[in-house]
Amino acid sequence: MKLAVIKGDGIGPEVVNQAVKVIGVISKKYKCNFQYQEVLMGGAAIDETGVPLPDETIEICKNSDAVLLGAVGGPKWDKISRNLRPEAGLLQIRRQLGVFANLRPAIMFPQLKSASPLKEEILGNNLDLMIVRELTGGIYFGEKNREDIECGKKAWDIMGYSTPEISRIAKVAFEIAQKRNKKITLVDKSNVLENSRLWREVVSEIAKEYPHIDLDYMYVDNAAMQLIRNPNQFDVILTGNMFGDILSDEASMLTGSLGMLASASVGENKIGLYEPIHGSAPDIAGQDKANPIAAIMSVAMMLRYSFDMEEAAKDIENAISKVLDKGYRTVDIMGDGMIEVGTEKMGELISEKI
Ligand code: IPM
Ligand code: MG
Repeated sequence: MKLAVIKGDGIGPEVVNQAVKVIGVISKKYKCNFQYQEVLMGGAAIDETGVPLPDETIEICKNSDAVLLGAVGGPKWDKISRNLRPEAGLLQIRRQLGVFANLRPAIMFPQLKSASPLKEEILGNNLDLMIVRELTGGIYFGEKNREDIECGKKAWDIMGYSTPEISRIAKVAFEIAQKRNKKITLVDKSNVLENSRLWREVVSEIAKEYPHIDLDYMYVDNAAMQLIRNPNQFDVILTGNMFGDILSDEASMLTGSLGMLASASVGENKIGLYEPIHGSAPDIAGQDKANPIAAIMSVAMMLRYSFDMEEAAKDIENAISKVLDKGYRTVDIMGDGMIEVGTEKMGELISEKI
């Protein structure tokens, strides 16, 4: 099993190191062999090669079975032009690998209930929703430009979706919903955007092929509010690139911390891209403070979706749960009477439990 590993910037290397540690334990336990190749992307690639996504990285990733990624970006590269920023590397690798479906499960470990900013009576006993975010289209990839106008400047970013782009992501959502609670909420802004109106047409057409799945529609502003008011009304949220980006950060916080949420990006071919949804958090980089759980949960998703190793994925999730049971917490999920540990220690504890 060939893995490309992109540590990235900020806390990326710290959390990926823990994820790699966990892969090591899994490969021993299941007697399987992962071949790693570390490649550069983002700010680290800019420093080394001048571009955020070197050709070599693209090639190695394309020749791998899965790509594991930390996070990219940081203030050091903020002034670089848009096309050469670290984030441009991330967007290009998603596009290059054709991973149009970004699955972002927001699952709350019951041990972290008190870390969630929501009141207990709103949270209920558990929280388990899946955001299916379109990842290689929409406003992120539309034409962008600036022009001088009489009274200053004007900038634009075009948001466009084609029917095939919408239907392929919708199908992914319906397939996922089938294995869950059979409910999809399409989140859009169809009271304003033509894009959203097309999404509704296409998605409602596909829904006819899945008569046992309950499809409803919600405007994105309302969805942002409903996630706080009653998150358990959702099962699968299907949405476009930008709304998915925003709502997944919001949903992560409901589970206790942005440091808890993993993601899997899958698509046209067999290569999957796995990354925590959090960013590079430059303010805490290099201090052994970052929560590695999202990166480690990304490994679980990788085992599940790319390598069909469901049991190993469960081992990881159970190990995390046991470590939380024992009261170990990184600072972002710290609570009264708990034991604070750093990034490295958290990775070690989880590895031991596996
Ligand atoms: C994410 C991130 C990225 C995105 C950034 C870093 C470009 O926020 O994966 O959610 O917007 O997709
Ligand atoms: Mg984001």
